[in-house]
Amino acid sequence: MLSLDELSKKVKEIFAAENFTGTPSGLYEPIEYTLADGGKRIRPTMLLASTQMFGGNISSATDAAIAMETFHNFTLLHDDLMDKSPLRRGKPTVYTKWDANTAILSGDAMCDLAWRYMLRTPHPNLHAILTSFEQMCMEIYEGQQYDMEFETRDDVTISEYKEMIRLKTAVMLGTALKIGALIADAPSEAVRVIYDFGIELGLAFQLRDDLLDAYGDTTVFGKQTGSDIKDNKKTYLLLAAMQRGDERQRAELRRFFATTPDDPADKIKAVLDIYALLDIKKIVEDEIGKHNDNALSILDQIEAKESQKEPLRQLAERMLTRDK
Ligand code: IPE
Ligand code: IPE
Ligand code: MG
Ligand code: MG
Ligand code: MG
Repeated sequence: MLSLDELSKKVKEIFAAENFTGTPSGLYEPIEYTLADGGKRIRPTMLLASTQMFGGNISSATDAAIAMETFHNFTLLHDDLMDKSPLRRGKPTVYTKWDANTAILSGDAMCDLAWRYMLRTPHPNLHAILTSFEQMCMEIYEGQQYDMEFETRDDVTISEYKEMIRLKTAVMLGTALKIGALIADAPSEAVRVIYDFGIELGLAFQLRDDLLDAYGDTTVFGKQTGSDIKDNKKTYLLLAAMQRGDERQRAELRRFFATTPDDPADKIKAVLDIYALLDIKKIVEDEIGKHNDNALSILDQIEAKESQKEPLRQLAERMLTRDK
C-alpha cells in the first residue's frame, strides 16, 4: 500500500520518465513547457489511488494516469485562452508566452496524446474505459460552453452553476477514479460509488478554486486573482451575494457584472467590498465543507479496509484547505 505522498511521488516519477519533445518544436515545446513541472497532479494521483484501493496493480494504470493529466492540461491551454489568463503555476500561460494559435494547436495535440496514452492501457475491457473517457471529454466541453455563456447572463441560478461546475471540473475527478476502479476490476456498484465521491469532491474543488480566485495569494496560487470578477464569471461567490444582498447591493453587482473595464482594479475592489459586507467567504467555505462531507460519507460506503481508503480520505482533507 502506497500512502498519498508515495502515490504523488510515483506520479512525479511517471512524468519524469516521459518525453514530450518532438518536431516541429513549435508544436511540442509548449507541451513540454506545460507538462514538465506540472501542477498538483491530483487527477493521476486519484486514478492510481483508486486502482490501489480496489486491489489493482498500479503499474497497469500508469498510462491512464498520464492520459488523464495530459487531457487536463490540454483543457488548461484552451481555458487560459478563453479566460484571457496571463498566469498559470506562476508562469506565463502558453498563449501569452507564444500566441493564441499555439495554444489551440498544442492543446489539440495534447488532447490527441491523452487518447494515445489511454489506448495503451492494458485491460481486456479497454472499450469500457475509453467509453467513460469519451463521455468525460464531451461533458467538459459542455461545461466550458456553459461557463462562457454565463458570462453574459445575469439570471444564472445556483443549480445551473452547480451543473456547470459538475461538467467542467467534477466529471474529470469522478472519471479519474472510475477509470482507476475499472482497471482494478472493481464491482460495478463500487465503480458508481467512487465516481460519485469524485463528483462531490470535484464540486468542492471548483468552489475552492473560485474562492482562491477572489482571495488567494497569487505567489502561492500561481494564477492572477480577481480574474473571475474581471470576466463577469458567474461564480458561487457572486450568486450567493446576489441572494443575500439588499436591493442596492444587487443593483450594484448587476451593474459591475455587465461591464468589462480596461483597468478592472476598481471593479474588483468594489465587488470584493460587497462580498466582505455579506460574509461571502464564509458562505463559500461552508458550501465547500458540505460537498466535502458528502464526499467523505460516500467514501464510507465503499467496501474496503480503512487503510486502503486512507490516501483518498487524506486527499479530500487536504483539498479542503488548499491554497494552490
Ligand atoms: C485547475 O486545476 C482547473 C480547475 C478545474 C480549477 P488544478 O487546480 O488541478 O490545476 P493544476 O494542474 O494543479 O495546476
Ligand atoms: C477550469 O475552470 C475548468 C477547465 C479547465 C475545464 P477555471 O477557468 O476556473 O480554471 P482556472 O482557474 O483557469 O484554473
Ligand atoms: Mg480559467
Ligand atoms: Mg475557465
Ligand atoms: Mg478558476
